[in-house]
Amino acid sequence: MALLIRCCLLSIVALMTVGPLVAADAPTEPTKQVSFARDIQPLLQAHCQGCHQPAKASGGTVLTSYASLQKPGESGTSLIVPGKPEESELLRQVVAAEGEKPAMPKGAAPLAAAQIDLLRRWISEGAADDSPAQSADPIDREHPPVYTSPPVLSAIDYSPDGSLLAVSGFHEVLLYKADGSELVARLVGLSERIESLAFSPDGTKLAVSGGSPARMGEIQIWDVSTRELKHSIPVTYDTLFGVSWSPDGTRIAFGCTDNTVRALEANSGQQVLYQGAHADWVLDTVFSKDASHLISVSRDRSMKLTEVATQRFVDNITSITPGALKGGLMTVDRHPTEDHLLIGGSDGIPKLYQTYRTQARVIGDDFNLIRQFEALPGRIYSAEFSADGNRLVVASSYDQHGEVRVYQTADAAKLATLAGQKGPVYAVAFRPDGAQIASGGFDGMVRLNDAQSGALLKEFVPVPLTTAVAAASQANN
Ligand code: HEC
Repeated sequence: MALLIRCCLLSIVALMTVGPLVAADAPTEPTKQVSFARDIQPLLQAHCQGCHQPAKASGGTVLTSYASLQKPGESGTSLIVPGKPEESELLRQVVAAEGEKPAMPKGAAPLAAAQIDLLRRWISEGAADDSPAQSADPIDREHPPVYTSPPVLSAIDYSPDGSLLAVSGFHEVLLYKADGSELVARLVGLSERIESLAFSPDGTKLAVSGGSPARMGEIQIWDVSTRELKHSIPVTYDTLFGVSWSPDGTRIAFGCTDNTVRALEANSGQQVLYQGAHADWVLDTVFSKDASHLISVSRDRSMKLTEVATQRFVDNITSITPGALKGGLMTVDRHPTEDHLLIGGSDGIPKLYQTYRTQARVIGDDFNLIRQFEALPGRIYSAEFSADGNRLVVASSYDQHGEVRVYQTADAAKLATLAGQKGPVYAVAFRPDGAQIASGGFDGMVRLNDAQSGALLKEFVPVPLTTAVAAASQANN
């Protein structure tokens, strides 16, 4: 929020300075001075930062802040020479020679003429820095986030072999040994907010969705063994939700606040699916067993089915009868061996649906619904099947409290309530062997519970906490 307000103030200031000029030469179109914060930074963010950021500095070049533009890349030439666009490597790289494609952005469509013009004008006008002061403090692998209190935990996942637990932090994902005994890696990326994460089916990669609210959305793909960032893919200007892998590990799907659901090829980062049938934010996704279809849930209260090959919306899996749907849906998971879907949302009732309609829709029906489970107090934020599909775990948030329950899939029997929860729970995951459940939420503690009895086995703060004094001296640097 603070940043938003600052940006507005900046543009008001810009408008005020431009005001008199406009009046003086009224008939011509006023040319505002190009602003780094308003014009250049968003351009670099959308087209360049995926390959030029601290965690992935292609060509030795980082393009995430004004300060980073001061450092020459591998070739040794200055990225920006104020007043001299033709001597600035930044511009040279995006301008095409006669009959050729520009060198950058590599492997993507060239920048539009208007964007190149902005870069050229900004450098001609002196390449001034008007970015808010806070963006000068880098957060990267060498300068990992500093925490004075535990961050709200929004996402948690076990690696398929059960050896690792990935937990969302601020600006990073923390990789733990699955028993919580050791922090093995900090995956620090560009996104401030991590909304979701998922290991690939073979466990070699970790997909992360997030961003910086109202500024950027990002999909990160990390190599789990080397801890390297393989891809950082900018998508939309807001955080991304509900990342999921196709069962063969070739595709990654996610939801956006522009109401679209999308999918990328995991190897290339190329977008292969775009569907805009939802009427509100898309919060979670899952592929069908054979990956021919993608299922998405949204704040618009519906669960939708999309055919992957054609990118076509094919059905509302949930009822579309007015009044039948109560509140937005926040989580979806697919049964490991059947095309059955577990959903949860604002009404607190876990529900099991079949993916494909086997009978024509009749107005007023909720034909695909297989089973409902006892309602949890509050809203359901996260739900997951056990690896064999026989059980499911569901987490909720209600009036500062949270609850996590385990149900039997086949008959909806309640098997356990996890002990020790002290606040709203936003993320749960079954350990692949089914014996333990990890959860996290508002109070920033990771809890490991026995899946059978519900007993609390361990709880820990997943981030290194700094004392207030140490944090203050850091802030003054
Ligand atoms: C898909 C990845 C990718 C994207 C996107 C990308 N780059 Fe690059 N960039 C590279 C790689 C890799 C190199 C190293 C040279 C090479 O392999 O061509 C590089 C090199 C550079 C260099 C030269 C550094 C030096 O001094 O040697 C500059 C400048 C540069 N990129 C600017 C940009 C700009 C500006 C954008 C956005 C408009 C951009 N790049 C987008 C991958 C990328």
